[in-house]
Amino acid sequence: MGLIVARNREELAKASGGGRLALVPTMGALHEGHRSLMRDACARANRVAVSIFVNPLQFAPNEDFSRYPRTFDDDLQVCEEEGVSVVFAPAAEDMYRHDRQVSVNSGEMGRIVEGAFRPGHFDGVLTVVLKLFHLVQPDLAVFGQKDAQQLAMIRRMVADLDLPIEIVGSPTVREPDGLALSSRNRYLSEDDRRVALTLSRALRVGAGEFTPAKIRETARAVLDEAGGALDVDYLVLADPATFLEVSETYEGPAVLAVAARVGGTRLIDNVILTLSPA
Ligand code: PAF
Repeated sequence: MGLIVARNREELAKASGGGRLALVPTMGALHEGHRSLMRDACARANRVAVSIFVNPLQFAPNEDFSRYPRTFDDDLQVCEEEGVSVVFAPAAEDMYRHDRQVSVNSGEMGRIVEGAFRPGHFDGVLTVVLKLFHLVQPDLAVFGQKDAQQLAMIRRMVADLDLPIEIVGSPTVREPDGLALSSRNRYLSEDDRRVALTLSRALRVGAGEFTPAKIRETARAVLDEAGGALDVDYLVLADPATFLEVSETYEGPAVLAVAARVGGTRLIDNVILTLSPA
């Protein structure tokens, strides 16, 4: 059967079918990273639904909601090529009632690290993801590891609200030179792109060290090499489940995460590493 495109919840309801269903939530402007999420989903389920919705709730008024890339026809082609069964692409009026009152509160964890720089962002993400879960009713949902705190927050929501959905984190896809794929990369000029490479290089070099202090110090030194061309919001070495900074004696998985602005574009990236006793 071909790709079904549902533009509202009624059309989505009609598109239901049997078997194990995987959801890949996206905001469109699909690239290789999204293809990789879809392939991961296809390998784990009989049917894959992709949602395409630029969620106004997760953008602050000063952010790029209105200029966020919208490439719907190309996105449909990608979904078709990847064997997706259903694309759910609702209008904002269809997703949110004009008089809506209730939303998800992402708690303390939603206000640290990325959340400290984007107030309300994770409330907006969790609200739309919870609505998508209810509307699509998937058995599992696949999210990119590139948005590491988002992935951690979604896992927390699923645990805290007892949602019967398996959450799969899928590895970050990178350009051959290391740049993590992002829909926002298309905003970068050639010069910006060169500077943007500092993020993945800082993470790679930092992750080669062995103690939290040395990892942070080394990664920070690489970021500093870019001087004023890179405006760093944060560099953290944190527990990937809580996003709290790890102590010098911490052992186990850790996420080294960075957010920085290059030109007018805000980029994030991270790597997962394992800290073991010295
Ligand atoms: O990662 C994204 O593209 C978005 O935050 C998501 C999960 C689709 C929610 O709007």
